[in-house]
Amino acid sequence: MNSNVEHLYHIAQKSSKTIIGLMSGTSLDGLDIALCHIKGNGINTSIQIPYFTTVHYTNKFKEEVKAIFSNRNADLQKVCILNEWIAEEHAKIILATLANWDISPKHIDLIASHGQTIYHAPKRLHQLKEFNNATLQIGDGDHLAVKTGIITISDFRQKHVAAGGEGAPLAGYGDYFLFGKKNENRIMLNIGGIANFTFLPGNIQTNEVFCTDTGPGNTLMDAYIQQNFPEQYFDNQATIALKGTVQQALLTALKKHPFFKSNFPKTIGPELFNLSYLQQAIAVSGHDYYSHEDIMATLNRFTAETIVEAILKVIPPKTTYTIFTSGGGMHNPLLMHHLHTLLANCNFNNIKDLNINPDAKEAVLFAILANECISGKGMALGKGQPATTMGKISFPT
Ligand SMILES: Nc1ncnc2c1ncn2[C@@H]1O[C@H](COP(=O)(O)OP(=O)(O)O)[C@@H](O)[C@H]1O
Ligand SMILES: [Mg+2]
Repeated sequence: MNSNVEHLYHIAQKSSKTIIGLMSGTSLDGLDIALCHIKGNGINTSIQIPYFTTVHYTNKFKEEVKAIFSNRNADLQKVCILNEWIAEEHAKIILATLANWDISPKHIDLIASHGQTIYHAPKRLHQLKEFNNATLQIGDGDHLAVKTGIITISDFRQKHVAAGGEGAPLAGYGDYFLFGKKNENRIMLNIGGIANFTFLPGNIQTNEVFCTDTGPGNTLMDAYIQQNFPEQYFDNQATIALKGTVQQALLTALKKHPFFKSNFPKTIGPELFNLSYLQQAIAVSGHDYYSHEDIMATLNRFTAETIVEAILKVIPPKTTYTIFTSGGGMHNPLLMHHLHTLLANCNFNNIKDLNINPDAKEAVLFAILANECISGKGMALGKGQPATTMGKISFPT
């Protein structure tokens, strides 16, 4: 037997695996690294996360990736080069982080690498009859495995597409395994660049569990800040939005897109919700000038209302739901204020209360998908969440 296969066979049988989950979302803020000890699989998964950090990207990294990110006219040579370069950068970050934690790479069983999405093209976006859903993450797993010496599971989204999904969101599986709770209705809301939630009914019927995007999370707010406030990357503490007033005509124009009316589950990215989308909405709104503050106040409200309207569509009337928030948007006080006000009948909790650092959640969910890839069976959830394990296996030698 090939020694790598033998090693993997051994890892698959371990009662507890040490898996590094990696997440780098559309916000391009940094690489989330969660070191997880995982026992069991499927609904018997249990997890401990002794170490977590976000290593913020350098301006150079952000500029390189932004040159191709969501860009239909990207330079193909650059795409090719960055596929390798992002993996090399991630490998350096992982090794430096492990050294900081005083942990030898030898003690890590697997890396679970999401990679960097550079384009997400579900059929609803490209609308080309003869082509299916598609999505592309780069930062190749072979390079990570060779550079770190750790078996790497990567590129999770392709299998989801191949099995009939849109390649996103993938949070539903891990959310169900970790947070599904009998007799408690839960919504696991993650506000990253794009916002999504997992619906976990208290009857814990797998075929009712699903995960969907709701529309923009921070992506439009971040893009506007980066364009107009060169020293800033996002609206820290909503300082700018708090000085503005929501402009109703603009908000109405922003909410007009058919994406918001289409059925769950659905996915979308900054390929749609970007500055051109905002420009078109400004034109439709009938005004050609708004202050930066008013635009930020309106974008903030736009994110909040589209999240709330999506959640209200799935919560049956007169049922109690607890919403667990995670992702960078939960640090935006104005956004959270809107959510609390508009969903006054829901209980809000932080997934910290479930012993998971909310900033680590997405990275943890990819560690769980890697665990499933090696030791799981592939469980179907409801609506567009096919029964499949995900991820490609890369060996260091
Ligand atoms: N203190 C804060 N105030 C306002 N927004 C914040 C704050 N901290 C983080 N964010 C937002 O969260 C984003 C990062 O969220 P994250 O969950 O990492 O998204 P992604 O998964 O797309 O990388 C930032 O770009 C920013 O918009
Ligand atoms: Mg991030």
